[in-house]
Amino acid sequence: MLESFSSPAHVLIIGASGGLGAGFCELLEAAPNVHLVRVARRQNDPKVAHICDICDESSVADLADALKNQPPFQLIINATGVLHDRALEIAPEKSLNQINAASMARVLQVNSIGPALICKYLLPLMATSGKAVMAHLSARVGSISDNQLGGWYSYRAAKAAQNMIVKTAALEVARRHPNKLVLGLHPGTVDTGLSAPFQSAVAQQKLFTPLQSAGYLLNVIDQAQASDSGHVLAFDGQIIPA
Ligand SMILES: NC(=O)c1ccc[n+]([C@@H]2O[C@H](COP(=O)([O-])OP(=O)(O)OC[C@H]3O[C@@H](n4cnc5c(N)ncnc54)[C@H](OP(=O)(O)O)[C@@H]3O)[C@@H](O)[C@H]2O)c1
Repeated sequence: MLESFSSPAHVLIIGASGGLGAGFCELLEAAPNVHLVRVARRQNDPKVAHICDICDESSVADLADALKNQPPFQLIINATGVLHDRALEIAPEKSLNQINAASMARVLQVNSIGPALICKYLLPLMATSGKAVMAHLSARVGSISDNQLGGWYSYRAAKAAQNMIVKTAALEVARRHPNKLVLGLHPGTVDTGLSAPFQSAVAQQKLFTPLQSAGYLLNVIDQAQASDSGHVLAFDGQIIPA
């Protein structure tokens, strides 16, 4: 695992408490050549080393400050995201009249502004020699050209904005560090709390377990080259069109 990185690979998982985040952690923890650091929003696991709310700029800045004396990271995976949250009255919209400004702002905050803050504060902590990858979990529904069904205004818009931030950050870092990649990743439909209310329309063989999807994505990350930076790659390695 992570054969294309220098060994041992220093890896940070943000969103370690989530379905996919936990899947990544389980696989990476079992890998002999990986030193794993977990970040979560809440301290609900003794293995979580750092707390960070990605919607709060000072929290992301504090995280960077707490990590700055560690060896540089070869891989940072941002596995945070929100699609629905009953407490915050967030639910994917079926039509324009369901748009709620406060809910939409929160979805944009978590799925697009948070990733921008992670780029701002944590890209400088990544290795500058050898391969380094910062990967943000995205979604196929963030593709504008692939939008055939409509609906889900906030989440689609937020993931499209995240994809633009990934592309723009990739261009900026490549000027000085061509081996530092910034990627978006589409995990497929994965059996987590985020997808739970929407799984009935998904064929059983197309619903991945978190471990399955995390394994596919780690392979995609391992295969990724400088020419992939700025793209959103699906679990099968295909580029998702913008
Ligand atoms: N599951 C799917 O089918 C699917 C499909 C396409 C794309 N994705 C994307 O994959 C990523 C992971 O999704 P998942 O299915 O693993 O979802 P999940 O199980 O709901 O996990 C979401 C994670 O995001 C964290 N988070 C939310 N708001 C945060 C904040 N303000 N600060 C820090 N962390 C925050 C949550 O932390 P708490 O536990 O503390 O709330 C949790 O760890 C998301 O970006 C999602 O859009 C998932």
